[in-house]
Amino acid sequence: MTRKILVTSALPYANGSIHLGHLVEYIQTDIWVRFHKMQADTECYYVCADDTHGTPIMLRAEKEGITPEQLIDRVWNEHTRDFGGFHIEFDNYYSTNSGENKELAQSIYRKLRDEAKLIDTRIIEQFYDPEKEMFLPDRFIKGECPKCHAQDQYGDSCEACGATYSPTDLINPVSAVSGARPVRRESEHYFFRLGDDKCRAFLADWTQAQGHLQAEACNKMQEWLESGLNNWDISRDAPYFGFEIPDAPGKYFYVWLDAPIGYMASFMNLARRKGLDFDEFWKEGSDTELYHFIGKDILYFHALFWPATLKFSGHRTPTSVFAHGFLTVNGQKMSKSRGTFITAGSYLQHLNPEYLRYYYAAKLNGSMEDIDLSLEDFTARVNSDLVGKYVNIASRASSFILKRFGGRLINAEERRQPEEEELEILLLGSEEMIARAYAERDFSKAIREIMRLTDAVNQFFDLNKPWELAKKPEQEKRLHQVCSESLNAFRILTIYLKPVLPQLAARVEQFLNLAGKMGWQDLKTYPANTINAYEHLMTRIDPKQVEAMIEANKATLTPPPSPASGGGAGGEETHPARHGEKQQHAAAPLPAPARGVPAESGSKAARSGETGEGTNGAAIAPTISIDDFSKIDLRIARIVNAGHVEGADKLLQLTLDIGEGKTRNVFAGIKSAYAPEQLIGRMTVMVANLAPRKMKFGLSEGMVLAASGEAPGLFILSPDDGAQPGMRVK
Ligand code: MSP
Ligand code: ZN
Repeated sequence: MTRKILVTSALPYANGSIHLGHLVEYIQTDIWVRFHKMQADTECYYVCADDTHGTPIMLRAEKEGITPEQLIDRVWNEHTRDFGGFHIEFDNYYSTNSGENKELAQSIYRKLRDEAKLIDTRIIEQFYDPEKEMFLPDRFIKGECPKCHAQDQYGDSCEACGATYSPTDLINPVSAVSGARPVRRESEHYFFRLGDDKCRAFLADWTQAQGHLQAEACNKMQEWLESGLNNWDISRDAPYFGFEIPDAPGKYFYVWLDAPIGYMASFMNLARRKGLDFDEFWKEGSDTELYHFIGKDILYFHALFWPATLKFSGHRTPTSVFAHGFLTVNGQKMSKSRGTFITAGSYLQHLNPEYLRYYYAAKLNGSMEDIDLSLEDFTARVNSDLVGKYVNIASRASSFILKRFGGRLINAEERRQPEEEELEILLLGSEEMIARAYAERDFSKAIREIMRLTDAVNQFFDLNKPWELAKKPEQEKRLHQVCSESLNAFRILTIYLKPVLPQLAARVEQFLNLAGKMGWQDLKTYPANTINAYEHLMTRIDPKQVEAMIEANKATLTPPPSPASGGGAGGEETHPARHGEKQQHAAAPLPAPARGVPAESGSKAARSGETGEGTNGAAIAPTISIDDFSKIDLRIARIVNAGHVEGADKLLQLTLDIGEGKTRNVFAGIKSAYAPEQLIGRMTVMVANLAPRKMKFGLSEGMVLAASGEAPGLFILSPDDGAQPGMRVK
C-alpha cells in the first residue's frame, strides 16, 4: 500500500529574515522529505507558510509606513527566495493570511465552542497604552526589574537576572510603543478550556502514547501536565492584525491559534490546485501520516494546544511532532556584534548552500540537543569529506575513463572481479542502515556510514593503482574495470547523499548520463553507459570566504538605506527567553512567546544601535552567467515627473519615460537623498521587466537603480550624454 505522508516545518514569522538558526529546521525537514520522496510507494507532501499575524507585524508595518499586507508580501518574497537558495523544496509555501486559513480557523473555533463546549470568556486586566490606544503584549512593556532593579527590562523576564514575572510587577513600566505610562484596563477574553477534564485526559494520553513525541519531550509534557494546565487565552483586542473571532466584534484570534491551522490551510491550497483529497489527510481516523518538525522552543504549542485543537474540532491528530535543538555558532548564541547572526541571504552571497546542508546533516541526530556550527570545523569537514574524499573519486576515476575509453564504462559481462564484487557488496550492504538512519532523523549516523564507505572506495582505488595500470598495455582491461567500478561506487554514494546534496546529485546525474535514473530503487543497477566530460563538482571552502561572511554580518551602526525595492525585513535578535519554555508555562493568560519582536521596538540590538543587516560593501555575489544577466532588462529612463508621496517617509513617486509611448509609475526609496525638483528632466537607469508591485500608494512598475555603501548617501545613476529613453543597458 502506498504510504501517504504530510510534513510541515514551523511557519516563520513574517517580520524577520531567515537566518542560519531557522535553517537547521528547514534543512532537517527537507532532507527527511527528500529521502521519503525518493522511495517507491510513498507519496509525500511538504508544506509551510509565513506566520503573518500579531502585534509585532502590525507595528512594524506601521513604522515602515506600509500596510501589514505589503509587509507580509515583501517578506514572503524574501523568504521564498532564501528557501529556494538553500534548495528547500516545499510543495506549497503559503501564508496564514489567506482565505483558506480564515475559513478553517473560524470553523475550528465554532466546533470548539458549539460542539466541544470548550470556549469560555472571562474578564482580565491588562496593561493598556492610552496614547496608542491598544493593549500591550508583555514584550512591549518595559521597566525596572522587580528583583534586581535593572532598568529597561521586558514585561515578562529580566535579561540581567533571569527572573520571570508578569508585566504588572515591573517598577515604573512604560509602553515600548509610545513611551507612555501604561494603565490597567479590563477586557473580555476568550479562552480555550484546556484545563477541562476531557482535555486533560486526552492530553495525558496523547503525549505519553508511543511515537507522538521524543522521549525528552514526553518527560517535559508530563511535568507540565502534572503542574496543571491553564486555560489558554486565544483572543486579542483590536487593533490587531489577524482574523476576527466570529460573533465577537473587536476581538481577534491570538496569532498562535491560527498559525498551526496554517499547516492545514497551506495543504488545502495545495490540494485544491493539485486535486488532492484534503479530508483524506485531516479527517478524524485518517490513515495518512502527519509530521510536524519544530524547534524545542515551540513544543508547548505543538504538543499540547495543537493536538487538543485538532482533537476537539473533529480532526486527526499528528502522527509525530519532531523537535530539534537550537543553533549555536562557535559554541555561543548567534550574535550580531560577533557577526554570527548570519542571515540566509548573506550566507548565499558567500558560500554554497550545500556546504551547510552537509554540515547540518552531519550534526543532526534526531534529538533535542542544541547543535553547534563551529566555523573552523565546518570548513575542515566540508573540505575533507566532500571535496577531499567524495568528489575526489569522480575526478580521479573519470579521467582514465574519458581519456582511455572514450567515456564508456565497462560492460556488465566484463565487469566482474572478486574485489569489485566485494566493493559493491560493501556499499549496498549499508543500504538498510542508511535508510533507517534517515527515516529516524539520525542524519549524522547516515553521514558517518556514507563517509566510511567513501573511505573504502578511495582505498580500493589507491590499492589498485590505476596510474600504474595505465602504463601497461596488458592491464588495459583491469584499468577499465577499476575505474568503472569506482565510478559505480561513486554513483551509489551519490544516491545515498542525494537527500542532503540535491543539486550536486543533479550534476552527477548529468555527468554520469543518468538523468532520472538515480532514485533509491536504482541503487543496484550498474550503468554500463557512456559518461560526460567531468566538470568540477564542488570546490573547497576558502576560510577567507567564511571570514568575509562574518565581517559582512557584523552589526553596523547605520542601517543600509533601502533602495527602491524597499529593502529586506529586519533581523531578529535571539533572546534568552527563546531557549527556555518558561514563558509558555506561566499562569493564564499565557503570555505571547517572546519572539517576533521587531528590533526597533526594544530588542537589545535596537538599544545598542545595532541593526543586524550590515552587508554593505560586502563581498561580491556568486558568479552568474551572461544568460542570467540578460534576463534583467535595463533601460534608459527620462524622469518626466517626481513628487512626494503622502504618508511615506522614504519614497518619491517618479514618472518615467522609457520610450514605450506611455509613462511608467515607480516608487523609489530615494527621498533621503533627492528633492523631487532635482530629478525632473534627468536621465537615469531603470529595471524595466521587474514584476509590478502593488504598494499602499499605488502600483510600482519598475525599479530605479541607486548606489549605496558603508559611507552615507544614496546615488542614482546617470548615462552619458546622448543616451535616449528606452535604450537598453547591457
Ligand atoms: N511563527 C512561529 C511558529 C509557528 S508554527 C505554527 C515561530 N516562528 S520563528 O520564525 O520564530 O521560528 C520558526 C522555526 O525556526 C521554529 O521552529 C524555531 O524553533 C526555529 N528556530 C528559530 N531560531 C532558531 C535557532 N536559532 N536554532 C534552531 N532553530 C530555530 O516560532
Ligand atoms: Zn532582574
